Amino acid sequence: MNETLADDLGLRVIGPVEIEETYQHLDDLVAGLSSMTKDERVEAVAGLLGARWLPRLSALAREDGGAWDAYLVRLRGSRGLASAVDQLRRRVRAEGRGLRLVGEKVAAPLAGVPDGWRAPPGWRVDASGIWGPDPMTDDLVQLSTVPLAPVGRLLDVDTGDHHVRLSWPGWAGHYERTVRQSVTVDGRSLVATLGDRGAGVTSRNASALVGYLEAALATNAARLPVELVASRCGWVSTPRASGFLLGGRWYGSGSVALQVDPGGGEEQVVEAVATSGTWDGWLASMSTAADCPDVHLAVYASVASVLVGRLGTARGWVVDWSGETSQGKTTALRVAASVWGQPVDGRMLQSWRLTVSRAEGVAHLLSALPLILDDSKNARSSRDVAGLIYQHSQGQAKGRAKPGAGSQAVGLRRSATWSSVMLSTGEQSAVSFTEDAGSRARCLCLVGPPLRSDRQARELTLGVLEHYGHLGARVIERLAGYSADDWRRLGESYRQSVEGWVGSLAEVGAVAQRLGALLALLEVARDVAEAVGYPEPPEGVEPLTRAAEAVRAGGEDADRPLAALRAVCELATRHQDAFDDGNARSDAPSGGYLGRWEGDEIGILPRVVDEWLARAGYDAGIRARWRERGWLLQRGRDWTLKRQVGTRRVRLLVLTPEAVAAGF
Ligand SMILES: Nc1ncnc2c1ncn2[C@@H]1O[C@H](COP(=O)(O)OP(=O)(O)OP(=O)(O)O)[C@@H](O)[C@H]1O
Ligand SMILES: [Mg+2]
Repeated sequence: MNETLADDLGLRVIGPVEIEETYQHLDDLVAGLSSMTKDERVEAVAGLLGARWLPRLSALAREDGGAWDAYLVRLRGSRGLASAVDQLRRRVRAEGRGLRLVGEKVAAPLAGVPDGWRAPPGWRVDASGIWGPDPMTDDLVQLSTVPLAPVGRLLDVDTGDHHVRLSWPGWAGHYERTVRQSVTVDGRSLVATLGDRGAGVTSRNASALVGYLEAALATNAARLPVELVASRCGWVSTPRASGFLLGGRWYGSGSVALQVDPGGGEEQVVEAVATSGTWDGWLASMSTAADCPDVHLAVYASVASVLVGRLGTARGWVVDWSGETSQGKTTALRVAASVWGQPVDGRMLQSWRLTVSRAEGVAHLLSALPLILDDSKNARSSRDVAGLIYQHSQGQAKGRAKPGAGSQAVGLRRSATWSSVMLSTGEQSAVSFTEDAGSRARCLCLVGPPLRSDRQARELTLGVLEHYGHLGARVIERLAGYSADDWRRLGESYRQSVEGWVGSLAEVGAVAQRLGALLALLEVARDVAEAVGYPEPPEGVEPLTRAAEAVRAGGEDADRPLAALRAVCELATRHQDAFDDGNARSDAPSGGYLGRWEGDEIGILPRVVDEWLARAGYDAGIRARWRERGWLLQRGRDWTLKRQVGTRRVRLLVLTPEAVAAGF
């Protein structure tokens, strides 16, 4: 490629031919020095500083440093050339590092930095870029053509991590971006984070810019007050600030800003925590379904989410709608989502199709705001559903390991945490996915159509897609203004409500009783919502009564040991012929005896019980729950008793009279 073409293309191609030419040129120059005047000699060296030779000299110096040094010595040996040759040496070295030496430019003032911001000593920052000391020569050289400046220091209220806000003029106006401090202290991270943002960071100047950023932060520390940030929504309580971070909006004393990676998935979710349309518009669309208790419950549950961390001890509750298709389940979730923000899939609404770790990430990011998951039929596996419901009730992500450091073989990741209500829908109820009694005691399962008509579904959907975020903002505005006394009062009314519900659910069973706390939470949330203008349901519509009925219905189902006992008793009834009833009979049953059933006493072969349990979908371990409840007869430490079955005495599991009373 000839030089002109390379120049046209903006390329500098220096190959063996050019290098050879350069040797030749330098040889001629050195040889001719003695016959030149001093001015001619300086002129000849100055000629080397032009665009034609400089890149070639740099290539030559890189590839054949010894020869280059020898030329320099010979040139410097001529009288009057010392300073010209020194400059040549510096220029060639700077060219090799891709740096330009400072011209005599007038510094233009820097935009976008706080008043009094100064470049660190030894550096210059102006509109033309950043100039710093050349480590080899101490000359000031241009490191970057973009005046990148650290303009803020931020502290994460949860982790204590430091962040730095950077500012620079970009292609489309002035840019600001907050990055973790770890990014500013490592050249490679700096390139990875700012490389595609026009911040003038390249792999060549990154390590120099790391030094610059550190020096600039130190120089300007007094002018950059430390701001507080959180990388999640929800309640914040520190000596300097206390309140609630609702998406990007802060409610409370002091100031805390939301800090998530720009352009990332987190930003997409928290951006949806916003308002659109009007409060009156939202109320008008909600009024079309005022006669549906479930729609009110969706609103109460959504509001209740921000109270979970402030009242009581539980970390997570689930409110779940199940039933056939096209009943308005998704619409009910949209209503719940519209309390806080944009009720759209992937925003305030998530599909159950997501992975467990993404769900945990979203729950953490939203923190006190509800986690809203639509249609468990789309979950990747029923184990995922069970796992997430369990995890959500724990209020923290599954503990995960990471590669250890130093002598530690395995490290631990910081667990994501939250305190919120999860709202879910599915064809099957959420608890049908799990055998875990603890999870069942955290789920309010509402079965059946949440809406009454097709028209309601359409009008609600259209309405909340246009108007959203207003009720949530009103609720937070009110709660953020609460004094310690106000919170005590709210806590007191919650406790009274818990007592009331627990008392009235006592006869249904332990699981239902524990759900009394969720009903109380919904009741307090209703009061808070109504205090900021959410209308009372019309006469005859009783959302909390509907919820309590669901708890009662679910309470029976939630009692797994009892359900298992009933299943076994039913199978025993069906096969009563195969039991020895104490009366003599001529032939044994065709499949052999299953046990002895005489009067009120029923004894069943252990293997038959296990087989029946398995057939009904229960684990054999449930027999331990029966023993705890006194449902099996015991002799000494033995849980099987010898009874006459046919012609032999065999060991049977014998149900106590209480078990028989409960099981049939
Ligand atoms: N109670 C209802 N009676 C009659 N039609 C309804 C009712 N609820 C919803 N629909 C109709 O079903 C459509 C879907 O509503 P939505 O998505 O809320 O139902 P869904 O219960 O989530 O259904 P799917 O099981 O398909 O997810 C609505 O646009 C509406 O036309
Ligand atoms: Mg749906």
